[in-house]
Amino acid sequence: MYLGLDLGTSGIKGVVIDDAQQLVAEARAPLTVARPHPGWSEQSPAEWLSATSDVMAALGSQIDMSAVKAIGLSGQMHGATLIDAKGDVLRPCILWNDTRSHAEAARMDADPQFRHVSGNIVFPGFTAPKLAWVKNNETNVFAATDKVLLPKDYLRLWLTGVAVSEMSDAAGTSWLDVGARDWSDDLLAATGLERAHMPSLVEGSAVSGTLRPELASNWGLPAGIPVAGGGGDNAATAIGVGVTKPGQAFLSLGTSGVIFAATERYAPAPDTAVHTFCHALPDTWHQMGVILSAADALEWYGRLVRQTPAALTGALEGVAAPGRALFLPYLGGERTPHNDARIRGALIGLQNETDTAAGTRAVLEGVSFALKDNLDALAATGTQINNLIAVGGGSASRVWLRTLATCLGVPIAVPVSGDFGAAFGAARLGMMAVSNDLTIATPPKIAETLEPEAQHKDAFAEAHIRYRSTYSALRTLS
Ligand code: XUL
Repeated sequence: MYLGLDLGTSGIKGVVIDDAQQLVAEARAPLTVARPHPGWSEQSPAEWLSATSDVMAALGSQIDMSAVKAIGLSGQMHGATLIDAKGDVLRPCILWNDTRSHAEAARMDADPQFRHVSGNIVFPGFTAPKLAWVKNNETNVFAATDKVLLPKDYLRLWLTGVAVSEMSDAAGTSWLDVGARDWSDDLLAATGLERAHMPSLVEGSAVSGTLRPELASNWGLPAGIPVAGGGGDNAATAIGVGVTKPGQAFLSLGTSGVIFAATERYAPAPDTAVHTFCHALPDTWHQMGVILSAADALEWYGRLVRQTPAALTGALEGVAAPGRALFLPYLGGERTPHNDARIRGALIGLQNETDTAAGTRAVLEGVSFALKDNLDALAATGTQINNLIAVGGGSASRVWLRTLATCLGVPIAVPVSGDFGAAFGAARLGMMAVSNDLTIATPPKIAETLEPEAQHKDAFAEAHIRYRSTYSALRTLS
């Protein structure tokens, strides 16, 4: 059996799969996000550890953990976890959707070596500008920083005692030479850091360390089992849904929204705001467009109208042509295609008839338009997407997926019930680390493919134009 752990933004998920890759146990423990100032988003690393212990205990109540042969890790990307020489955490982790370091990011992005070497825009959510912010605003914390770890790599340090990262997550720091799959001493130096501040690097499918005996005995796991490199949550999800070869792609409706495509080779295109990162398998790369609020936008609307996302989407019957109400989901700024940390969301076109359901439709459509912008940005790099596999919490809503298929003009495949997300991909990476068989990341069985609804195609295309011009107008106001 193989255990996968995914340290997400809203919770930690653990799954155990057997040798035939069938799910045999799963558990989840929630996490909270603190937003102490506008644009800030932080989490306590101590909470990750206690949530992981809860997940392990819950898995142990379902199966005999002594049969687990390896662990794989996945996690929310880009977060800056700063630890001192004793291994103590210096401040709350600054998360991927925190945009406080937009000024630092813009300054770094203006230095041509960052795009040239890292292959990407220096987005405010990436790790390097966060360290520049800490250096400017929390001088003592910066001075005491011994290691900078991504969230799942801090979890790994606790699990194994070693500071190691892997290529897919490291690619989102702005310090990796993404083509060479190695830290860039020049980019680190430009942030006042050196290689010694970084964890060492392995491939996602390789062994990174072994489980500490004390934890193994607490959880009933065999002592010394390997922990695989794993992947950033998007690369790990790709392993879970078998997106490893050119032509394969998935759509994730999690807290963030992602369109992820495996690519032929390393082909950076930073001007499009598309991300070009290492995949979790050796010598492979991928592209993705990322929006900061996808299922998060529906959660936000649900809090306003005091209904759960499931109740809101459950009240809608099928796809309709977009109405007057138009939502722009830029609740905390946006990455692809705008790289705009200052923009904020909007709900316009309200009229007397606008009710809760019309608001829900506007939110689902607004997120769909934002993802259409991402599809267009990927197309501008030459990456054509002809089908997508849906994953993430938001993909439980068929209406949302049908809306997306219609808006994107791409059929969306829904996997049969079962977990094909990041935790499953992490478990697969654990299995690869033990077996050395990198061919096991096959696509899931598909329950249903949702086709674009031809009768609404033109209405969505027109509404998308209105959406684009609303963004331009909004930019002049914010
Ligand atoms: C990817 C990104 C998000 C987080 C969410 O660049 O920032 O998808 O990984 O967990």
